[in-house]
Order: sequence, then structure tokens, then C-alpha cells
Amino acid sequence: MSVDPHKRSSKYTTDRMLPGAFEGETVNRRRFMNVVTQGAGGIAAASFALPALGFALGPIFKRLPVSWQIIGRPEDFVETTYVTKVITIVEGIGDAGKSIAYVRKRDPAIDTEKEDKFNQYIALSSRCMHLGCPVRYVEAAERFICPCHGGVYNFRGAVAGGPPVRPLDRFYTYTANGFLYLGPRYSVNSELHRFSPRDPGEPIDGVGQFVYPSRFDTAVLPPTTNLPLPPHIPGT
Ligand code: FES
Repeated sequence: MSVDPHKRSSKYTTDRMLPGAFEGETVNRRRFMNVVTQGAGGIAAASFALPALGFALGPIFKRLPVSWQIIGRPEDFVETTYVTKVITIVEGIGDAGKSIAYVRKRDPAIDTEKEDKFNQYIALSSRCMHLGCPVRYVEAAERFICPCHGGVYNFRGAVAGGPPVRPLDRFYTYTANGFLYLGPRYSVNSELHRFSPRDPGEPIDGVGQFVYPSRFDTAVLPPTTNLPLPPHIPGT
């Protein structure tokens, strides 16, 4: 028996001769139940997947404020050793927001990375790039040692041994108003090229820089328009 092609494309299930069709029905029960089941499954999957996705991708879009702090006079620092400075990394939470930076003057004989106005002084973060324990500078050995799992960094902060996945992070430094300012943190790869800051345990050599993407915050050089004013020194 031949079937009218116009009836085949009708919106009514009876015209389309679907099994169990009712007169006036446009969606049969089987299809309706399929759509409802798939919709419910999709909602259940999204309720698990979306929070996990937000947790994973959220930090990428987080913008950290660019702030500068005075850490001393330029003449306080020399090329041959590091000066330990207590710095504020999170404002408004007291001692919990403080950390340590190791600072020295740039030495053109060993600091071969590209020179600009933000690296005339080298400021290294004390946070180990394995799991984040505080490292300590041992002057006699000219090494940074991590007490947690034996990570060792050389004088420039590059990995010399142990499990850390990249060199110690650095801070932008800038000289103005007769003082040395310390700015935002940035990360470096094994060639000490600048990258926007990553977390400990995130390598940025090779594909690592794509696997652990940047956060869009210090991808460009930080502005120096918001430098805090130097402290008033009596007699000056
Ligand atoms: S946290 Fe420094 S070596 Fe593990």
C-alpha cells in the first residue's frame, strides 16, 4: 500500500502512522519520555560538572590588584648576597598576609635575562615551587633550601635539586623617589623568562604554560602610577 508523502510529514502522530498514536497527538509518549529522561539526566550531570568547571576555571579570570610597597633604599642592597625583607602579600589581615622576599641588586655578570626598569633589583619569593613551603637562603652555600622535601635552588633562584617544578617566583621591583618599590609577583620558567604568576606545583616549561594557563593579571608590565608616597623622614 502506498503512503501519502504529505501525511508522512504531518505534525500529527496518527498521520505519521506511529504505533500507539492518538488522534490530535503531535508527540508520542515514547518520544516524550525520551526527552524528559534525557533532560533530567542533563540537569543532573550539569549540577556536578558546572561547579567543578567553575572551580577549575575561576582562578584564570581572577584579577589581582597591582600594588607597590616600599622595601628600602636602593643602597641597602648589593649584588653579592640577598637581604631578607618582610613584605605584605595580602592587605588588611595582619601577620597572616605577610611573607618574605629575598632581594639583591642585579649583577649583569650573572643576571643574563633581558634587562628593563623592573629588574634592576632581583626580588625572589620565599615560597617553594614544589608545594609552597617557605625556603631559606643559606649564604655560605649560596643556595635556597626548602625544609619540607629537600628542594634546592641556586643563587639566581633556579632549581638545583629536589622536586620543585620551576624556579622561585619573583617580584617586579622599581626605583622611584629615592626608594626601592616591590610590585606584583610573577613566575619564571627554567630560562628565567617572565610569565604571569602560577601556583606552586605548576610547571611552565613547554606545554606546561598551556596546561596551567595565566590569570590575565600581570601578563603585561604593571603600571607605576599608583606608587605609595615615601615615608616622611625627619630633617629631610
Ligand atoms: S615544598 Fe619545597 S620541596 Fe616540597
